[in-house]
Amino acid sequence: MNRPLIGMDRTCNTRPGTQYDRREIVRAGLAAGAAFPSIGALLSFVGCAGKDTGTSVSGPQDETSASPLAGPKHNVSLVAEVGEVEVAPGHVYRTWLYNGQFPGPEIRVREGELLSVVLENRLPEGTTVHWHGVPVANPMDGVPFVTQDPVPPGNSFVYEFPATPAGTYFYHSHMGLQLDRGVLGPLVIEETTPHVSYDREYTVLLDDLLEGDPTTASDGVHGDMHGRRGGMGDPSRPEYSALLINGRTRADAPTFEVRRSERVRLRLINAASATAFRVTLTGHELTVTHTDGRPVVPVTVDAVTLGMGERYDVIVEADNPGSWVLTAASLDGTPEPAEAALRYAGTSPSPARGLGHPPTQWQGRTLRLSDLISIESGEAVAAGPDRYFNLVLSGGMMTSAWTINGQVYPDADPLVVSEGERVRVTMQNMSVIDHPMHLHGHFFRVGNALKDTVVVPTHMGRVVFDFTADNPGDWFFHCHNLYHMEMGMARVFRYV
Ligand code: C2O
Ligand code: CU
Repeated sequence: MNRPLIGMDRTCNTRPGTQYDRREIVRAGLAAGAAFPSIGALLSFVGCAGKDTGTSVSGPQDETSASPLAGPKHNVSLVAEVGEVEVAPGHVYRTWLYNGQFPGPEIRVREGELLSVVLENRLPEGTTVHWHGVPVANPMDGVPFVTQDPVPPGNSFVYEFPATPAGTYFYHSHMGLQLDRGVLGPLVIEETTPHVSYDREYTVLLDDLLEGDPTTASDGVHGDMHGRRGGMGDPSRPEYSALLINGRTRADAPTFEVRRSERVRLRLINAASATAFRVTLTGHELTVTHTDGRPVVPVTVDAVTLGMGERYDVIVEADNPGSWVLTAASLDGTPEPAEAALRYAGTSPSPARGLGHPPTQWQGRTLRLSDLISIESGEAVAAGPDRYFNLVLSGGMMTSAWTINGQVYPDADPLVVSEGERVRVTMQNMSVIDHPMHLHGHFFRVGNALKDTVVVPTHMGRVVFDFTADNPGDWFFHCHNLYHMEMGMARVFRYV
């Protein structure tokens, strides 16, 4: 079993505070309407920011060559194929993968490079790759029947786009329910000028493990359709057999090595198809520095929740030597949490298992959407919006359909915008389950944060976001619960 190394050591070349213009960050914060809780706390994060050493872990086929279109060209080869995965010792199952790895190889590029990916489809059915969160040109977006035809078995397709802006992303098949088989992987675009300093980083990709073929509830294969899990009202979540961090169950939890007094960046990615996670780390706080790749004013909490498709970058101050447990627990309670060990050099090699925080007894401070303050000025609302959409999210009751304003995609009207318009989208959740709504091709402003995926909470939860229609094309907009998407909770924003 090929177990890719995810994560890399970083070297800090400069002293904290030397690489960032403090006036800029203060201005950015004030522009975002922020009252700084602590300038000192913020500035303590500013500095060297792990300028990287050029180490790439994105796969054996990578090479870099000059390109006139953007920065240097970064070539990656992705082979979608059937293979075997070992998620714990002796726990092997057969599924669909990229390059025989699970998760797929980490694609890591520098901001401004031209990323060129050759996808070769060796699966038994058509496939596409979507670059979740990256505002690529529309033909590169990888949505079957919206931006391209599926790549047939035995065929190839070249995806090429400038790697910008920097951030933590992931890539995945956007064909049907393929995501739930494991055709997914992390995508990191490294900053040229980060706003946080760190000495080391790890990618922490969260997933749910489905053994067997994914099917929609309407196929009638999901077993108990009658309100299991105490009336969650969501018959659309499959029976997952485990939760995973970087493709491993807690029975073989990955270990993240750190050294005392290091500042460790964790790139948290929820690549699961139907599991929202709460992430906690014993013995440490988590300082959130980015959401969906976009930098925010650092905010320190005890827990971060991630809907499907969301990413959070957090900094851990390694100031408490020992062996600690990073826990990723399902907000639904099942299956049992995934774990990783955070181990200080020189401490016991056996991870202290089972010390994670059960979500039901959680007492700490959980990150809220309102805690997030973008340090970027983009998407500020100068004038009022030019275009409004009110979208009601429903479903999961009498039928297995999930709807937006009563319509079931693809039997649904496009949401029409014109280039240059400022668009305001109001979503109201009339169902009894959260919906992580994801917009392709754009970042939107929700509250004071820039994001591409936002959870609309259950029971009348209401979320408003604004975006600028600055990337022409047909852009998919959908719930990132794969089963909700597949059962209709999707629309296309169409530029006319
Ligand atoms: Cu992760 Cu339509 O996307
Ligand atoms: Cu949903």
